[in-house]
Amino acid sequence: MIDLMETIQGRRSIRNYQDKEVPPEILNQILEAVRWSPSWANTQCWEVVVVKDQETKEKLKATLTPTNPANKAMLGAPVVLVVCGKLQSSGYYNGEATTKFGDWFLFDLGIATQNICLTAHSLGLGTVVVGLFDHNQAKAVLGVPEGYELVAMLPLGYPAKVSAAPKRREIGEFTHYEKF
Ligand SMILES: Cc1cc2nc3c(=O)[nH]c(=O)nc-3n(C[C@H](O)[C@H](O)[C@H](O)COP(=O)(O)O)c2cc1C
Repeated sequence: MIDLMETIQGRRSIRNYQDKEVPPEILNQILEAVRWSPSWANTQCWEVVVVKDQETKEKLKATLTPTNPANKAMLGAPVVLVVCGKLQSSGYYNGEATTKFGDWFLFDLGIATQNICLTAHSLGLGTVVVGLFDHNQAKAVLGVPEGYELVAMLPLGYPAKVSAAPKRREIGEFTHYEKF
């Protein structure tokens, strides 16, 4: 395990992978990081589908537009983690949305996703969050039931190539003290 700030800053989106399996105990540690993610009232609305089958990966890849830079990663990575969420639980109380934002499932899944990415990186693996694809088509491929949505796909494996970090906004450009 490396230092947290180093993990946060050093994690890159990985789109090229080595032809090397992910050991089950490593995969388990990554899933353990999902397990300990914070969530709205501890609703834990996440569901994760672990895809290793090449044919299924092909079908999932087909849901991306050909211009998506993650196309190659969908097949090149030995594992694709598919992050799904239960609807109308996060942000809800007695069946009613409690805030103006309605369902908070995307928020909770975002946190769980970041836990996957950081844990993978700290263990020497790479990931890329894939969000731009035909979600309904991907849902059908994996048989995601009604009441759930498939939100993001994360190729996971040992990096073959690490790209340079895209530029970030400076702290002063997004931080507001006392008032916006
Ligand atoms: C919600 C979300 C969706 C994303 N969707 C895609 C995608 O469809 N294809 C892709 O290649 N990268 C995708 N990315 C990766 C971003 O492009 C990447 O995180 C960003 O450029 C910063 O680079 P870094 O992750 O290396 O720091 C996505 C990232 C997030 C957080």
